[in-house]
Amino acid sequence: MGPLAGCRIVLGVTGGVAAYKAVEVCRRLVDAGAHVAPVMTKGALRFVGRATLDALASEPVQISLFDEPHPIPHTRLGQSADLVVVCPATARLLSDYRTGRSADLLTATLLATRAPVIVAPAMHTEMWDQPSVAENVAVLADRGVTIVGPVEGLLAGGDAGAGRLSDPADIVAAAFDVLGVTGESPFAGDLVGFTVLVTAGGTREPVCPVRFLGNRSSGKQGHALAAEASSRGAQVVCVTTEPALAPDRLGVKVVAVETAAQMATKVLERSGDVDIVLMAAAVADFRPVQVADHKIKKDSGISEIRLEPTVDILAELGRTRLPGQVLVGFAAETGELRQNAAAKLQAKGVDLIVANDVSLPEVGFEHDTNAVVLLGADGGLTEVPLCAKREVARVVIDKALNIHQTNFDTSAQISNGDDK
Ligand code: CTP
Repeated sequence: MGPLAGCRIVLGVTGGVAAYKAVEVCRRLVDAGAHVAPVMTKGALRFVGRATLDALASEPVQISLFDEPHPIPHTRLGQSADLVVVCPATARLLSDYRTGRSADLLTATLLATRAPVIVAPAMHTEMWDQPSVAENVAVLADRGVTIVGPVEGLLAGGDAGAGRLSDPADIVAAAFDVLGVTGESPFAGDLVGFTVLVTAGGTREPVCPVRFLGNRSSGKQGHALAAEASSRGAQVVCVTTEPALAPDRLGVKVVAVETAAQMATKVLERSGDVDIVLMAAAVADFRPVQVADHKIKKDSGISEIRLEPTVDILAELGRTRLPGQVLVGFAAETGELRQNAAAKLQAKGVDLIVANDVSLPEVGFEHDTNAVVLLGADGGLTEVPLCAKREVARVVIDKALNIHQTNFDTSAQISNGDDK
């Protein structure tokens, strides 16, 4: 995972000789872990072949508002971007962007985004010096667009002067700057340097191609945990049955699953290198032994569905976890909250159980609010009265971080031979 992991960047390329340098910018952004979606203008295609960017970027080049696989490509690109970089930006692009003219896919994408924008102009000195161009650049800068370059140097045709595209390394550095990426993590916060694995949603166990056994979990608490951990600087892996509702933000890698077996595979293959596991998903305990390969018809009468147990992922993590790793389980109950939570804490070998009584109003499944009791392996008990799920997430992560610190201090003492 590079420092830009989880970051979606639209790379716009317009028609100028410097377009070949966009290839280098693309390469560097991808190497840094970003997902790069290239958009070329028709003019750009006269300077670099789309095959080059197709091969180096994270998805195929898009050119047209109308002939792309997605019916409204500019809104998909604009809305999902964390950053738009235009490199090189011609005088025409600057003018269209300044005046809000949607002339092609790139300018339409610029209008359809709320993400920060970087433009790296490149043109001949006479063009760059034109008051109209200077005014367009000044207005864009005033609106918050980051202008990188141009610099002085050799220009096409053997001329020299201002108007040369900035070095690709400087354009990439500006992208890091705008995204707030310094060193390892894009955010500041007390979880910088941590990797957090969160599970969310209710698993679905197929009975036939049409039906499944499921539960009422919406994934909201798990996704709130993922968003909270990410906003505090963690790299987050969110294994979820509701990927469309997962936080769409820098630093959150969303892994979509459906069944308990798929969730077990994804969690267990990632758990080796994470610091904190927050197992908020409602995982099915049983699944049908046989899955019909055709729709079970009403006329075939009431059929018996035989079930077999699934893997208890959390218990498996409890058995195999690395020293120092913090494991947090969740327990949705309808009574005897503390007894049930204490039993699960013990049985699954975890550090903390977050239990809620889903029979209470506004608590748990599908609500935006929750009320929980936190039971720690150290005997600690914390009650969190009814509040937003994000607030619950804050308290749970505070606690997990505390446990991590204690584990760390303890192992440091052991390795120092300090047994006081
Ligand atoms: N869990 C899991 N794998 C399963 C079942 C549960 O990892 N196959 C995890 C859940 O994600 C949760 C914790 O175990 O963090 C407790 O889940 P819960 O369904 O409340 O408890 P169960 O162990 O399934 O027991 P019961 O359903 O009888 O309450």
